[in-house]
Amino acid sequence: MTKTEQYTQLIPQIKALIEQQSNIVGALCNVTALLKEAFDYYFWVGFYIVKDQSLQLGPFQGSVACYTIAKGKGVCGTSWDSQKTIIVDDVEQFKGHIACSSLSRSEIVVPIFKDNEVVAVIDVDSKDLASFDEHDAKGLETIAQLVAPLF
Ligand code: SME
Repeated sequence: MTKTEQYTQLIPQIKALIEQQSNIVGALCNVTALLKEAFDYYFWVGFYIVKDQSLQLGPFQGSVACYTIAKGKGVCGTSWDSQKTIIVDDVEQFKGHIACSSLSRSEIVVPIFKDNEVVAVIDVDSKDLASFDEHDAKGLETIAQLVAPLF
């Protein structure tokens, strides 16, 4: 199965998980669980949520992570600031990368928009170099749109 097919297959499940769900933390936890199980190259997957003018750690699957990221800092803060998806093939080459785990080698961060503002980001780390491509970007951007109403 291609990556695109894998992401497409998850869409009905994600819709069902968040439909009429008032338990926002639980729903976001379930989305991370679904993604972590679906993709074997996902080492860490989670949400950082905009609150008090910074990104705050939200539901995730993976190892312990930093709580707060300032706007413009790290891959997550840069994605928030630029309002763009960022793919990093080698985290050591990204100036200002925030290393929550030394095992992380590549990363993708996708902004989640509500009313044209970034309200959160989806962050995914891999233990391998260059794990993420435009298919992950497209798939995760679709998922970002699906979960946006939760924020
Ligand atoms: N590497 C991220 C920080 C979050 S952890 O990867 C979970 C960054 O540079 O923003």
